[in-house]
Amino acid sequence: MAEDLKINALLKKDKYAELFPQVKALLDGEKDLIANMANICSALKYGMNFFWVGFYLVKENELVLGPFQGTVACTRIAKGKGVCGKAWEKNEIIIVDDVDQFPGHIACSALSKSEIVLPVYNSKKEIIAIFDVDSDELASFDKTDEEWLIKITSLLNV
Ligand code: SME
Repeated sequence: MAEDLKINALLKKDKYAELFPQVKALLDGEKDLIANMANICSALKYGMNFFWVGFYLVKENELVLGPFQGTVACTRIAKGKGVCGKAWEKNEIIIVDDVDQFPGHIACSALSKSEIVLPVYNSKKEIIAIFDVDSDELASFDKTDEEWLIKITSLLNV
């Protein structure tokens, strides 16, 4: 079983580079999607010090809260609603520098200031979940996060 994560780097891109092989090792040999999503959330919350990290699972025509780390969150999001519902509807990654400027943003916590939301695909390129990472600082996310979070969620291998 994995030991605690070890992240020594100071720069974000270097932190991700250190974290990635550790997440890969955590998921290696485990097929259970929920278990793997749960460990990704914990690794990113504590390894990268994000405010909230979680998956919303596509269930029928709604997103339903799945594994997450952070404060309590809304359980159901309709297609097109909030940042998560928009990313699902448009099938795209959305980076929000200031959640107060995003029309229809769903505020699960007043402390969340910026976020990045990514679709998670299965092997048929269908969206099976939406991955949401929140920061308590403005404009925390950029192409570096996008690149590494795609790599990390791809480890789910569904
Ligand atoms: N802010 C998201 C909702 C999920 S929470 O932030 C955990 C949204 O607008 O879709």
